[in-house]
Amino acid sequence: MNERDLDVHRSEEAITTALRADVREGLRATQKWLPSKWFYDASGSELFERITAVPEYYPTRAEREVLERESPAIAVTTAAHTLVELGSGSSEKTRLLLDALTEHGALRTFVPLDVSETALTEAAQAIATAYPRLEVRGVVGDFTEHLDLLPGTPPRLVAFLGGTIGNFLPAERAKFLRSVRDVLQEGEWLLLGTDLVKDQDRLVRAYDDAAGVTAEFNRNVLRVVNERLGADFRPERFDHVSYWDADNEWIEMRLRASADMRVRIPGADLEVDFAEGEHIRTEISAKFRPEGVAAELADAGFALREWWTDRAGQFGVSLSQSVRMIE
Ligand code: AVJ
Repeated sequence: MNERDLDVHRSEEAITTALRADVREGLRATQKWLPSKWFYDASGSELFERITAVPEYYPTRAEREVLERESPAIAVTTAAHTLVELGSGSSEKTRLLLDALTEHGALRTFVPLDVSETALTEAAQAIATAYPRLEVRGVVGDFTEHLDLLPGTPPRLVAFLGGTIGNFLPAERAKFLRSVRDVLQEGEWLLLGTDLVKDQDRLVRAYDDAAGVTAEFNRNVLRVVNERLGADFRPERFDHVSYWDADNEWIEMRLRASADMRVRIPGADLEVDFAEGEHIRTEISAKFRPEGVAAELADAGFALREWWTDRAGQFGVSLSQSVRMIE
């Protein structure tokens, strides 16, 4: 892979500008919050990879089980010429799809899209080496903004795996699914991974592993703000919290101030006071019910064609097809 196979839609400067805006909005709010996409600098992406290996974090393994079993069927059903992977990260599970889609002969182009340039470059390079006949066109960007710029010829299969759709609030989720549907032609495909509602203990522990990897991942957002905006957060003074919101059916990750403190964020022209016990919400990770997934897909203009789960029923993968809608 060489440089022109990577389309970078965000300059470093634009990233810092976006972070500044998010920090000013989120940390001046009464209930402080930060968008979860800011976890993923190089070390955040690496920490997430380590999370996928801790015993408590089941979603990656459960989804892999489904993809191992169903990738051949996905390849036959979709006959995709292009695989687009949103939030591709390390693209590790993607190989199961790539193997099946290339074996069935139709795949020509792989388009991984991720906010993390380092994660993307490494992944795109590894895939290009492992699949020499595949055109790999990495896109560095934010999938809420850069969907219209996707390369590759139809029929395309857009994969959004890992349960990352759960990081959106419900209204954002609806808008996002619509925007995916809007870039697809009628009959093109969406493969969506959704973590499922299950007992509270299992959920809470999946986001609070005993080895403390998730806690470090959570604190990483403060390091990102320190590095990009010259802030003086002391991450170790924030406690990691994994909280199940039963009404909204989502996990919230929080960073709770262990003492009163004042944080300076010169790059956002901001000083923020924390009272002991006050928290920043750093992520929501919504959990789904099968009927809810089907309804949300239908609302966005997708017809559900297949629904699979792992044998233990922990994680759902849906395959749906863009349909013409009466608006
Ligand atoms: C990568 C967004 C799917 O929400 O489960 C893992 C991120 N956060 N542990 C998730 C995450 C805490 C993960 N996604």
